[in-house]
Amino acid sequence: MKRIGFLTSGGDCQSLNATMRGVAKTLYENLEDVEIIGILDGYKGLIYGNYVKLTPKDFSGILTEGGTIIGTSRQPFKLMREPDENGMDKVKAMKNNYTKWKLDCLVILGGNGTHKTANLLREEGLNVVTLPKTIDNDLYGTDMTFGFQSAVNIATAAIDNIHTTAASHGRVFIVEVMGHSVGWLTLHAGIAGGADIVLIPEIPYDIDKVVEAINKRTDQGKKFSILAVAEGAISKDDLELSKKEMKKKMKMYPSVSYMIGAQIEERTGQEIRITVPGHTQRGGIPCPYDRVISSQLGAAAGKLIIEEKYGYMVGFKNSEIVPVPLEDVAGKIKAVDPNSSIIKQAKSLGICFGD
Ligand code: F6P
Repeated sequence: MKRIGFLTSGGDCQSLNATMRGVAKTLYENLEDVEIIGILDGYKGLIYGNYVKLTPKDFSGILTEGGTIIGTSRQPFKLMREPDENGMDKVKAMKNNYTKWKLDCLVILGGNGTHKTANLLREEGLNVVTLPKTIDNDLYGTDMTFGFQSAVNIATAAIDNIHTTAASHGRVFIVEVMGHSVGWLTLHAGIAGGADIVLIPEIPYDIDKVVEAINKRTDQGKKFSILAVAEGAISKDDLELSKKEMKKKMKMYPSVSYMIGAQIEERTGQEIRITVPGHTQRGGIPCPYDRVISSQLGAAAGKLIIEEKYGYMVGFKNSEIVPVPLEDVAGKIKAVDPNSSIIKQAKSLGICFGD
């Protein structure tokens, strides 16, 4: 008899349910006796002892369902070793519940912060298998995270829809794309949506270069320009500012796109409009590509559990599904390499990165 606890943590994405279904199906298909519980609302459920029993029926019909059937929450890793407001030792509480629930393994789906805590639990002696979730695609040890391609589709659709209205009015449009501190989502959506200018955190921009690119288009008779701007985009000048100075500066704007928009308007005199698709990028159904990798990753995680190989994240490398030791993943970020071929190819297409 095996008893497995599923847990989804951090920001949600479209393919969490599809991935859990992949693990569950593999376990139900290949083990005589297995019980799965769903730990509610991320690590919060593990700390405070909230879970539900799941049955094969719960995993039916969820391949195409966005969100997570067991809920999620953000529990910052840096506070995990701090007692809660009632003085509770969170790590001890998580270990106690794991033992009380007689779990053989925790299956944890999450991004960077989630993986730090998963590794902490591994170091504390718990059996853990993890799966790489995030629309940001910034998890180390995997070429691709599930959720990313679905979010690329949505961010691309936002840029596609802007194209017609931008052309009709002859305006400069900025589409602000999620991605936290990396530019994967903006880069892919920017290329797929045919953005003229793509600004990502990994390539700090010079506003003069951005304005130059817009003016060049105007001189060529092009009536509009579209910028795909990562929510974490930063200028070369702002790199020099302290965190405090940057915070003070950003207080004047709802987000980075508004600051860039104001600068462009002032320098070009062109009309600017800003679109922020925001959390729609994490919503809706998973795209077919995500359903496929989620099913593959889920099946591989199930196999690790059956073979009792614990302490791994299941990653996707060079088109192969591979186990990656958790200690190699935790605490590292996978950012876009400014010298990578995709950036060079985008530049050769004429996309301006503001550098
Ligand atoms: O990590 C996923 C993500 O959507 C980021 O792209 C974004 O910066 C952040 O989460 C938003 O977080 P929240 O849902 O807590 O507002």
